[in-house]
Amino acid sequence: MFPLNRNRRLRNKESLRNLIREHRLHPHDFIAPLFITEGKNKKTPIESMPGYYRLSIDNIKKEVKSLWSLGIQSVLLFPKVDDKLKDNLGKEALNPHGLIQKTIKEIKNSCPDITIISDVALDPYSIHGHDGIIKENKILNDETNKVLAEMALSHAKSGADIVAPSDMMDGRVLSIRTVLEQNNFLETGIMSYGAKFASSLYGPFRDALDSKPGFGDKKTYQMDFSNFKESISEIKADIDEGADIIMIKPGITNLDIINEAKNTFNVPIAVYQVSGEYSMIKAGVKMGYVNHNEFLIESLTVIKRAGANIIATYFAKEAVELIS
Ligand code: PBG
Repeated sequence: MFPLNRNRRLRNKESLRNLIREHRLHPHDFIAPLFITEGKNKKTPIESMPGYYRLSIDNIKKEVKSLWSLGIQSVLLFPKVDDKLKDNLGKEALNPHGLIQKTIKEIKNSCPDITIISDVALDPYSIHGHDGIIKENKILNDETNKVLAEMALSHAKSGADIVAPSDMMDGRVLSIRTVLEQNNFLETGIMSYGAKFASSLYGPFRDALDSKPGFGDKKTYQMDFSNFKESISEIKADIDEGADIIMIKPGITNLDIINEAKNTFNVPIAVYQVSGEYSMIKAGVKMGYVNHNEFLIESLTVIKRAGANIIATYFAKEAVELIS
């Protein structure tokens, strides 16, 4: 009790604050998401994500080397698929020579030690911009799962260390795990988006991949942000079905759920600081309302404080440059 206890005592100089800090960021915490595009020597700006680009495979390889040299040891891959390759069945997603499959192989060759995580969902391949196969304006669950499992297998064959289903179909983790086991990919990890909310923070990402839903929204598969308990059962289902790592997204709107997941489950918890979070910060900085470097570190540290072991963020490189 005051005056015996003065909490300000331990705050009065930086070295002391550094000494008692409970959570700090480390380069190994981060996964860097990468957008891949066809072509050579391409670095295409994404208008709604200032400072972020789609890269052709040659540039992806350079970027991976540069991330590695900074201590960022995991990447998460998303392909920007040509319109003429899109359909309603995700056929191109299974192409062994498709863009993501090629990228995985090339990264594996040039930087074999890095952890390659590949996105598994149909939206980049869908003429409708949805994560599943569509019939009469409905997203079909079980039919989609079959394709997702084949897609995951195709990534594993290309050399992916971890596949990351981001679609929110029911039972997809079990479908994927079953097919991986049957094909003897016993060591391929699954990082499933256990609790992914239908959020208004994904807009810039959909610009990056040109994958905006052509009709409706994603609320019949992604979760309602009003629901807490449901998110815990979603996560539990994925773990029971064989997920190795659980992903929660977005970050800033789900700190309570991250914390509950950390206290409830014993698997590593990954959090995705999504495109809208990135772009809001960039916009605030551009307007002069927030300090870039300070808020960037704050936004990531509180995700870690909430309970994340792993953070996927478009700020990975900038954050690591700031902390080192
Ligand atoms: C789709 C997918 C989305 C993101 C990752 N995978 C968008 C969506 O659900 O429409 C969003 C990531 C981000 O906003 O950074 N499978």
